[in-house]
Amino acid sequence: MRFIDRTILPSDITPQAVFENRRSLIKAAAAGSFGRALAPWFSREALAANPEKLNVQLNATYSAADETTPYKYATTYNNFYEFGTDKADPAANAHTLQIKPWSISIEGLVKKPVTLDMDALLKLAPMEERIYRMRCVEGWSMVIPWDGFSLSKLINKVEPLGSAKFVEFISLADRKQMPGVKSNIIDWPYREGLRMDEAMNPLTLLTFGMYGETLPKQNGAPVRIVVPWKYGFKSAKSIVKIRFTEEMPKTSWSQFDAREYGFYSNVNPQVDHPRWSQASERRIGDGKGVFAPKIKTQMFNGYADQVAGMYAGMDLKKYY
Ligand code: MTE
Repeated sequence: MRFIDRTILPSDITPQAVFENRRSLIKAAAAGSFGRALAPWFSREALAANPEKLNVQLNATYSAADETTPYKYATTYNNFYEFGTDKADPAANAHTLQIKPWSISIEGLVKKPVTLDMDALLKLAPMEERIYRMRCVEGWSMVIPWDGFSLSKLINKVEPLGSAKFVEFISLADRKQMPGVKSNIIDWPYREGLRMDEAMNPLTLLTFGMYGETLPKQNGAPVRIVVPWKYGFKSAKSIVKIRFTEEMPKTSWSQFDAREYGFYSNVNPQVDHPRWSQASERRIGDGKGVFAPKIKTQMFNGYADQVAGMYAGMDLKKYY
């Protein structure tokens, strides 16, 4: 199949209803009725309500040398459908999320099911900063310093049973705090999942902060998952439940359209999305916006050395 080399249009990647809604937003923006996305007056305080400094050490072994994305782009151009479907919606709307108190319930096939509050979670391991390349399925990418520790530290604590083959991550879905949950675009709550070895891979980060500060709400405060060799939607935000299962869990996007979004969703320039190529990407925030030059997407987003072994012998066209 040949692809026309052009920027992916919102209509390519978005359910029609969402696209229509977005068009009316764009019209409103053009009419000058609002202008919130990437407004230059945004200060860090405006982008993240009361960010707290974190005590973090850079983990150079797991950090990319690429130039990091400016904070204002990483916090104002993203997806968090619980707060709306436009890229600017999470930053504009996520202030209603209540992050204190917060806890994660760890359940399913484990010897020691437990509910951990934030204090208990933060005590599990020292926090590290990891500069990760992030690749969205839509064709854009960023380079973000995330703060957290390997999810394996938590998994080891709860002692999964031998029958546990997968880990499911479930985000908060509360209509009172999250206006987007009133829509039926996704069968809420947002769910993602990993195979057990993927969840145990040291790169899989239980994430509490970014750029040395606690996570802004729009980026998944107070705790989320970050999986840098997979498309961005695998990295579930604001999680409240981690469940260990024998069966492969149903995930939000594969339920939405199994042909377009598979369970594995490894970044793979050789396997195209049914409607567009995945061979290249544009880095957000280099000052040129959608006109930024395309760069080649790397296999496993550049993390092949650390992760390719987990997929040896698998047909990655079939297990996309
Ligand atoms: N998690 C929840 N709960 N809801 C979402 O809509 N969107 C995903 C992922 N996690 C999403 C989510 C998608 S599509 C992407 S690209 C990333 O979050 C983007 O957010 P980030 O830039 O903060 O990583």
